[in-house]
Amino acid sequence: MPASRPVVALTRRLPPEVERALAAEFDLIENREDRQLGVAELRDLATRADGLLATVTDPLPAEVFAGESVRCRIVANFGVGYNHIDVPAARARGVVVTNTPGVLTDDTADLAVALLLAVARRMGEGEREVRESRWNGWRPTHLLGTRVSGKTLGIIGFGRIGRAVAQRAHHGFGMRIVIHTPHEPPADAVAAVEAESGSLQEVLGGSDFVSLHVPATPATRHLIDRRRLAMMRPTAFLINTSRGDVVDEASLAAALESGALAGAGLDVYQREPAVPEALRRLPNVMLLPHLGSATRESRDAMGFKALENLIAFFAGRTPPDLIP
Ligand code: 8YV
Repeated sequence: MPASRPVVALTRRLPPEVERALAAEFDLIENREDRQLGVAELRDLATRADGLLATVTDPLPAEVFAGESVRCRIVANFGVGYNHIDVPAARARGVVVTNTPGVLTDDTADLAVALLLAVARRMGEGEREVRESRWNGWRPTHLLGTRVSGKTLGIIGFGRIGRAVAQRAHHGFGMRIVIHTPHEPPADAVAAVEAESGSLQEVLGGSDFVSLHVPATPATRHLIDRRRLAMMRPTAFLINTSRGDVVDEASLAAALESGALAGAGLDVYQREPAVPEALRRLPNVMLLPHLGSATRESRDAMGFKALENLIAFFAGRTPPDLIP
């Protein structure tokens, strides 16, 4: 009789090729309706499956991993950010956590640049005008935006995605790059975009655009708060493709409303999928529904990376993307 296969629970629907490849390796518990699951449902899955393939919509606090009935030994996160998982609690219970770094870098960086261009050139406002039949013709003073080329881009966090944004901005748009990062940035990455380093205050105060690329941790929660927003130029724009928790949304809305900040491009929110009304009613904000890695290429690659981590784990090897 063949040895029984590990049971893996997929918390969401995945690209078809990925689901097929997973089914070839494991017995799957699926979420056919692709509903967002709650903690109790995730806990139930953890008692029925040897592994969870989870996404950013799955809250995985300590209680999911606690107790004798837990069967789950690995959470393979589909995504690079893992702030929705209590990793120390999982580790304490002997549950391994992995993620999918690298494969979504370019697409997320592209989206950050797209947001930057969109807010600078008022694309959302223009598009709404056309769709709502409010465009009454070309005129020299219509929807004037801000030039991007040659301006200064502040990058907070200079990891894979921050560097990829800097590359695009510097080499594509001739932007001057200033960075703030808690870690010593690799000299070659700094040289590649002729970046200058500064304190958070210097980067916020000296940039025409600020793009956030830090993970969500207790240390970065509300990193951009009322006080930090006040350091930015009133002509500046804030771009966030990292995590909603990094920005105090209420203070951001107030700064945008009062004219203390020119605009913002946001892909992530504190309580997704809820987007505060205070932001939704502002014309100078481009709001996207967490699309950073949403390309077929990235989502396939993320799925195959999660699969690779699961295969390695169940074969008794260290998964390649183990979160230490
Ligand atoms: C994913 C992301 O869409 O990878 C991340 O951290 O934010 C996104 O690219 C999401 O995490 C999927 O679970």
